Amino acid sequence: MSGLAIVGAQWGDEGKGKIVDYLAAEASVVVRYAGGNNAGHTVVVDDKTVRLHLVPSGILYPNVTCVIGNGVVLDPEVLADELDRLAGQGVDTSRLRISDRAHLLMPYHRDLDRLEEEARGEHRLGTTGRGVGPAYVDKAARDGIRTADLADPEGLRRRLEAVVPRKSALLQKLYGHPGYTVDEMYDYCMRHAERLLPLLVDAGRLVQEALAEGRKVLFEGAQGIMLDVDHGTYPYVTASWPTAGGIAPGVGVGPGCVGNVAGVVKAYTTRVGFGPFPTELTDEVGDLIRERGVEYGTTTGRPRRCGWLDLVQLRYAVRVSGIRQIVLTKLDVLSGLDPVRIAVGYEIDGRRVDTFPASLAELSRARPIYEDYPGWTEDLSGVTEPDELPAAARAYIRRIEELAGVPVVRVSVGPGRAQTLATGPLLW
Ligand code: GDP
Ligand code: IMO
Ligand code: MG
Repeated sequence: MSGLAIVGAQWGDEGKGKIVDYLAAEASVVVRYAGGNNAGHTVVVDDKTVRLHLVPSGILYPNVTCVIGNGVVLDPEVLADELDRLAGQGVDTSRLRISDRAHLLMPYHRDLDRLEEEARGEHRLGTTGRGVGPAYVDKAARDGIRTADLADPEGLRRRLEAVVPRKSALLQKLYGHPGYTVDEMYDYCMRHAERLLPLLVDAGRLVQEALAEGRKVLFEGAQGIMLDVDHGTYPYVTASWPTAGGIAPGVGVGPGCVGNVAGVVKAYTTRVGFGPFPTELTDEVGDLIRERGVEYGTTTGRPRRCGWLDLVQLRYAVRVSGIRQIVLTKLDVLSGLDPVRIAVGYEIDGRRVDTFPASLAELSRARPIYEDYPGWTEDLSGVTEPDELPAAARAYIRRIEELAGVPVVRVSVGPGRAQTLATGPLLW
């Protein structure tokens, strides 16, 4: 048995939360492997809308174990708020487990994120300001505090003594921030330990055992491939590995545990934060897509930049993340647009380019080469069978499959769990 990875194939917010919730009906375990509460995953079931930042999107099912893997950086304060909010919405969170190797996102990471962004001035990245980047920096710098440290108060204090004075000096000397004492951070950690400790597990082992018993596992991606620290539009990226390649190190399983990678693709493109975006629409069509698609960030409320679907970008995502099948979302939003356009290549300095360039300077000069297709006017939100889709919408899906080289196996036509059409067999 192997697991199914659900990854964002663009710049995030493709609808991963909705799709993971829809698929989790069949799952035994849903595990997050990367990112932190920079993620915002929205799940809509009947009249209930649930916004998740750290808790995996399988949490609405009473029999699904939800796991926060070691690859996630965990802000304990945000998690506590999220669990309280979910309880307030009547969601049972007792099946949440957390890797004992996950790194804690500390208060100074939040400060550093904000202060470093300010200091970047015109070069700022447009981070979510949640401290996620600095938490990954500390992990790689061997200055992280891990969840397992909470079980050993003496050891935790020694770790904090090794780290906090240097973090404080940085905050004070570079940014004029008062900094933190070791005692303050020790008390902070111990305050959250009570709630976290009972949830800690060896997450890799839990997942591997589930697979060995023939139970279904979903690996829930956060962000999107174009935000990957290696393969995205660096430096306008996040600090982790949203690609399926991030699963093995982010969960503690071998790469063979990932049997299929499904890429979630929005029927158009959006991006929050700065950085090049070749098919961006700054005209009224972009505004229309934003309003109809309610393209405002789940985490920060920022308006998302909107544009046409970009197959140069998508083919690249398919390759670097090993995407074998596509789940197409938000097709309903395109109703009424005529024509609908897909970028099939770029023109850069008079040359035609079909592969996604590494150079941001080149990318920012890229002029999309579009193919135009007839639009459709029908409201798709009530469609329940693929053959009820208008012919023009079906042709649009077929063209995406041809250009991407992988099949579209699910199509989403609304935020609700039931608004999902099966257009082909999903490999799981
Ligand atoms: P994620 O970060 O990939 O989980 O995506 P977000 O939840 O941040 O953003 C996707 C938004 O689109 C959410 O508000 C979803 O409820 C909504 N959504 C998901 N699928 C569809 C769809 O097919 N149609 C429409 N209209 N909305 C959708
Ligand atoms: P989900 O999981 C969209 C973007 C930020 C910024 C860049 C770096 O909901 O798809 P960071 O705070 O990570 O250092 O910010 O990455 N970003 C996202 N954009 N969806 C997300 O997550 C994102 N997580 C980070 O806007 O451009
Ligand atoms: Mg989101």
